[in-house]
Amino acid sequence: MSEMHPLRTADIIPSESFEKLNEKAVELAKKCEQAEVPSLDHLRMADYNLVYEPSDDTFLMLDALLYDFSNENAQKLNSITNVLEIGCGTGVSTIFMGQLLNEIKSDASLYVTDINKDAIRVAIDTAEKNGINMDLFKAMKCDLATPLLEELKNKVDVLIFNPPYVPTPEDEVGSEGIEASWAGGGNGRVVFDRAIPQIASLLSYPNGVGYIITVDDNKPEQIADIMMEKYGIQVTPFFRRIARNEYLSVQKFTLTRDISSETIEQH
Ligand SMILES: C[S@@+](CC[C@H](N)C(=O)[O-])C[C@H]1O[C@@H](n2cnc3c(N)ncnc32)[C@H](O)[C@@H]1O
Repeated sequence: MSEMHPLRTADIIPSESFEKLNEKAVELAKKCEQAEVPSLDHLRMADYNLVYEPSDDTFLMLDALLYDFSNENAQKLNSITNVLEIGCGTGVSTIFMGQLLNEIKSDASLYVTDINKDAIRVAIDTAEKNGINMDLFKAMKCDLATPLLEELKNKVDVLIFNPPYVPTPEDEVGSEGIEASWAGGGNGRVVFDRAIPQIASLLSYPNGVGYIITVDDNKPEQIADIMMEKYGIQVTPFFRRIARNEYLSVQKFTLTRDISSETIEQH
């Protein structure tokens, strides 16, 4: 993340059990194979003035996806029909999933959204340059996944979100330019918190899984409590790595019960 912020603040002390899961996630991320980032050779510095340049958070996400969908876990790819990424930036996370799916000749659909129109332009270009079947790649400039809520209700098997997570003044949230990459408002949670009910309505049951980036300032254990209490969604630290001045985690979201018949109020 290009904006710097201090390490975990003293008031964010996870419970012993959450800290144990964090430790496991650190070990897993140490052991994993490093994912190869889809080619971005077609991009220039000027593109990165407009669109988030893949960074440690992106790379942690790719490594987590590689770990969860390769080797002995590769068979999980067979059950994927829809992948959705909210806030795709250059699109590399979804394009990476697309490449894994290509290997098993899957015809799963890949949906990406971003509030930044340049991110959508770049993601389309990047998908084309990396051999993605463009009939299956659907890119949309929009807020979160709002226009897809009906079409993809309970149908998303893999949901990826690396949100703007840096704690900033609230009035910095809401841009549609490069600032939207990091400005997260209070606790860095303003954008993510709006996405919570969308994630709950979109994930498929029982196999749907969400991969969400957090920093400790986002109070991920509080996110876990909210998701379980409101939607029966279990949130577990999955991959965790210290990068420069922040602890980054991929939190894994899985449904513990079928909520497809429940009414989920969207903000
Ligand atoms: C930290 S960047 C991550 C980009 C990319 N997924 C990656 O990992 O490299 C966050 C992305 O979320 C997008 N974003 C921010 N607010 C959004 C919103 N309300 N709806 C959709 N996308 C949003 C930003 O434009 C930016 O591309």
